[in-house]
Amino acid sequence: MVTQSAPVFADVDTGVDDALALIYLLASPDADLVGIASTGGNVGVQQVCANNLGLLELCRATSIPVSKGADETLTGPLRTPSKVHGPRGLGYADLPPSDVTLTEHDSATAWVRAARAFPGELIGVATGPLTNLALALRAEPALPTLLRRLVIMGGSYDHIGNTTAVAEWNISVDPEAAAEVFAAWSEESLGSQRLPILCGLDLTRKVAITPEVLARLADAAGSTSTMMSVDDKRGTPSTASNPVIRVIEDAMRFYLEGYYDNGHGYLAHLHDPLAAAVALDPELIATRSGRVDVELAGTLTRGMTVTDWRREPNARIGVGVDPAAFFDRFIERVGPYAHRLAS
Ligand code: BDR
Ligand code: CA
Repeated sequence: MVTQSAPVFADVDTGVDDALALIYLLASPDADLVGIASTGGNVGVQQVCANNLGLLELCRATSIPVSKGADETLTGPLRTPSKVHGPRGLGYADLPPSDVTLTEHDSATAWVRAARAFPGELIGVATGPLTNLALALRAEPALPTLLRRLVIMGGSYDHIGNTTAVAEWNISVDPEAAAEVFAAWSEESLGSQRLPILCGLDLTRKVAITPEVLARLADAAGSTSTMMSVDDKRGTPSTASNPVIRVIEDAMRFYLEGYYDNGHGYLAHLHDPLAAAVALDPELIATRSGRVDVELAGTLTRGMTVTDWRREPNARIGVGVDPAAFFDRFIERVGPYAHRLAS
């Protein structure tokens, strides 16, 4: 049976979990990744671009165009980069050098071009701050009708944040951009199926990757590997025989260490890969429609995603996921893909 692939456009701030989201998309036969927009977030935008290009080199997918996004948020400089991804964004991993150049147009233009090239077909997935998408909507207000589906990793709908007490990282970096994006969709004009699907922390924190899951992944790739342990010397390099698994393990070790230091245990949440998986198959999660607004003014609550279930919805909010089903899907796609790349 031939799998139909859908055009997918990803906007990322690569980042360990963004990298895994991209690998998932590349590994998925039902996705045709037609472009990558880079945004500053976990690290500065120049580093995000380098990470995206290096990842495509690793995955021998260098024909996929990568665009650079704005250096700043809609209202000013980026906040200090996140510590959990490391100074270069990919933990201890080293990516191969790439001599591929970025597109001449910026990330906002890339969104618009991709949406116009595949009207009604393009699946958009955003796993970083929403600056590029907000700028794209300013340039092309019809974007909500041009996209087939939009999935965003961002927000927290049970009101517990990871950046402030109540704000999630991607929204917190550029709250004005998120507010503009959320305001562009409404159930009345687009119908409930076209509303963006939001994967917030309360959902993505349910998918915690552990050394056991990583060992299953290496196994599915036919790779040697040594199960990581909290007792290992920090920064112990991966011994995996498969180059993609090696990069994943070296990146993930740093991420696991960061989560451990933050009191979560020796595990890490796969926020962005879950969003990528939902982009290809929304049935992976349960959603509930609601109205989301972003707090822009609060001294303690700036960047908080405030949900009102009584007003006209502008989003479908992820409320339930089966983590085992997600990890099975992840392993069955990424494992054989990593194996194929090495052979
Ligand atoms: C989000 O913040 C980033 O650090 C991750 O890549 C993810 O997109 C989770 O809050
Ligand atoms: Ca991200």
